[in-house]
Amino acid sequence: MLPSAVLSVSLLNLLLLGVSSSTPEAPPTSGKPPQFHQAGSSLGHLSWSLGLRLYQALRIEGSHTNTLISPALLTNLLGAIIRAARGTTAGQLQELLKTAKEEKKAEDVFSIVLKSMREGNGTSYTLHGSSALFSQQDSMLEKAFLQQIQTQFELGHVALSGKDMQTDMEMLRTWARDGMGGREVLPLTDVADTKEGAMILASALHFKGIWDQGFEVGNQDLRSFLGTKYTKVHMMHGAGVYRHYEDMENMVQVLELGLWGGKASMVLLLPFHVESLSRLERMLTVEQLEKWLGKLSSMSMALSLPRVNVSSTLSLQKPLAALGVIDAWDPETADFSGLSGQGKAKLHLRGVLHWATLELSSETGNKDGVNEDEQVDKPKLFYADHPFIFLVKDNSAGALLLLGALDLAEGVALHDEL
Ligand SMILES: *[C@@H]1O[C@H](CO)[C@@H](O)[C@H](O)[C@H]1NC(C)=O
Ligand SMILES: *[C@@H]1O[C@H](CO)[C@@H](O)[C@H](O)[C@H]1NC(C)=O
Repeated sequence: MLPSAVLSVSLLNLLLLGVSSSTPEAPPTSGKPPQFHQAGSSLGHLSWSLGLRLYQALRIEGSHTNTLISPALLTNLLGAIIRAARGTTAGQLQELLKTAKEEKKAEDVFSIVLKSMREGNGTSYTLHGSSALFSQQDSMLEKAFLQQIQTQFELGHVALSGKDMQTDMEMLRTWARDGMGGREVLPLTDVADTKEGAMILASALHFKGIWDQGFEVGNQDLRSFLGTKYTKVHMMHGAGVYRHYEDMENMVQVLELGLWGGKASMVLLLPFHVESLSRLERMLTVEQLEKWLGKLSSMSMALSLPRVNVSSTLSLQKPLAALGVIDAWDPETADFSGLSGQGKAKLHLRGVLHWATLELSSETGNKDGVNEDEQVDKPKLFYADHPFIFLVKDNSAGALLLLGALDLAEGVALHDEL
């Protein structure tokens, strides 16, 4: 991979963007200042610290392929199971679920997040998601506990067949597909055995944001995406006033895209140049994100984003273990007696599975928000033709709904086209 070649393709695209006939002649802009911003909003919600640590643990050990997690859902999932844990099993989970700033009791914040996620559904985004606890020996479990996690965390219990692993894994996959509104999901490569006493926590989520303003229907064309493979993908173009910050020192552009209705917004972190995301990932902390978000200011922008779906099917045992959750997995030492009751079956965690899909589409809620009279003045370019990190933050409960990376945009391989 020649860096100079990479740069010239990228520059060529920038130039094309400037003169291309597909660029809108009078780019739309929203006259109103974005309403979604909360001054001084802090990232104190524990989904931020948990999400960032999990993301880093996943990316450090894994290969750099597209990643997507929902810290809000995962916080909810772990927050539910921690209530069944005792002893060091509980201590290790507690350590993980502590926020950097406030050490609010987990259960106080979960119901607020779930409520807030539902409130944004249908206006700011379309969200399908569910979480469940899978295990055998339904009859052995504390009924009161199962009821409690259902009411408080919306975490249902699903009994595994116990017949064989294949059947159970297929059942999990079907459950995930249904939870994601019928979308096809990738099979798990890491098949968990589901012996007696094994519990699997699973969550599945499909998210499609509805932009506040932005990408005009029809203003899309095929462009190069310089990911881990070079591909041709559909790029969406738009222009308007957005909150943006250019960090010259760290060579990264930070852009906030409001979602319609202001319930949530998406933030993109795009390195200036084509590079692997590892440099940026090493910098990702709650403090750094807070700094970047605090420096955003409204300016005229011309945006180009790939129209892609980012999907992940993840088994989180290794990253969770790397973050100190050790005893929960061990049938000998795990203590979930809050669920198994006194003197009954011994339980341990066998898997934490996560399916997530994000659809980057051009759907806009603001049908008549396009202001034809106003021109975007000397727009700054945000040309996302290479890997970037993105997140979706909930603007009412303050939770981190999604965190992910686009390393590769599926499309026709570029060298085939040349
Ligand atoms: C979001 O709304 C859709 C219908 O538009 C619904 O099918 C889905 O279950 C809702 N998601 C949640 C999490 O409530
Ligand atoms: C993304 O997935 C949706 C289905 O969930 C599909 O309709 C759409 O065409 C996909 N987009 C791309 C760019 O593949």
